[in-house]
Amino acid sequence: MTQTTLRDYLNGSALNPDLIHLLEEVANACSVVADRVRNGAFEGNLGSANATNVQGETQKTLDIVANDEFERTCARSPRLAALVSEEVEEVTWLKEPEAGDYLLYFDPLDGSSNIDVNLSVGSIFAVMQVEKDGDRDVLHKGRKQLCAGYAIFGPSTMLVLTIGAGVAGFTSQQNGSFYLTHPQMTVPTETSEYAINTSRYRFWDQPVRRYVDECVAGEEGPRERNFNMRWAASMVAEIHRILIRGGVFLYPADSKNRTTGGKLRLMYEANPMAMLIENAGGAATTGLVSIMDVQPTGPHQRVPVILGSKSEVERLIAYHKKES
Ligand code: AHG
Ligand code: MN
Ligand code: MN
Ligand code: MN
Repeated sequence: MTQTTLRDYLNGSALNPDLIHLLEEVANACSVVADRVRNGAFEGNLGSANATNVQGETQKTLDIVANDEFERTCARSPRLAALVSEEVEEVTWLKEPEAGDYLLYFDPLDGSSNIDVNLSVGSIFAVMQVEKDGDRDVLHKGRKQLCAGYAIFGPSTMLVLTIGAGVAGFTSQQNGSFYLTHPQMTVPTETSEYAINTSRYRFWDQPVRRYVDECVAGEEGPRERNFNMRWAASMVAEIHRILIRGGVFLYPADSKNRTTGGKLRLMYEANPMAMLIENAGGAATTGLVSIMDVQPTGPHQRVPVILGSKSEVERLIAYHKKES
């Protein structure tokens, strides 16, 4: 049986060869990060670094290692103009921007609080383009993403990618190559599984409380059926589960995080996941507007996130509209 590699898949697409080159370097970066994560204990890289990032989070050593590996590997791509990373406050310019050059947005290590307990983590990325020669604006809406994806470092390492239409999953083999194993990932419209950090219940707004209360009430409540709940504290793991078997994921704005606009970051967490979920047949919203229609105001801007199976996301939008 011949197997389709990531390279075969990209070469069979209509993507610009420079973009294919960049995506191959992103995949290489993900492989290197997977190795560094796997070998964290041997390389002395578990635990926290003595540093804080622009979001005020204490960085894990592997957050910094992963960021450096992404920078080093992706910088080999000649038309990559700039990097926007969770771990770096300012935009990193690699060249004088020319129209058509690429902009890479990434979360080098997502779910990094799970590192020391050996649970799934990943890397998230998206690519957009420089619009005009000399234009240093990187604050484009998610609708302008050319492609987006993530790598998940779980029982197996996978790369999940959308290059405009559809979502494809590739699994890494021991030789480090990614092979197409999940050619058409789709999010089922209906689901009975939700994911939210319920320790924040007392801070939630009414629409979120109502939704979760109704799920918890199960067949005795207005939904007249039972729901299951999961919370991995690793967005990559939650989104991967939703792309495999459906579900809805929420990290809403609440009374504690309202001033920052939520927890998750628009440009390298919410937008790439929104593109993947929409291209797999699901939906992604802040509760009031589509995530990919939010105009960014800063590279590290945060945004409320509700995404996954369409029927549940639509219900949540309806609950939000009623309250607003
Ligand atoms: P990161 O590790 O990149 O900072 O992201 C962590 C995010 C996301 O992966 C996850 O969904 C969420 O934070 C978990 O938040 P809580 O710890 O509040 O549950
Ligand atoms: Mn972080
Ligand atoms: Mn993250
Ligand atoms: Mn991160």
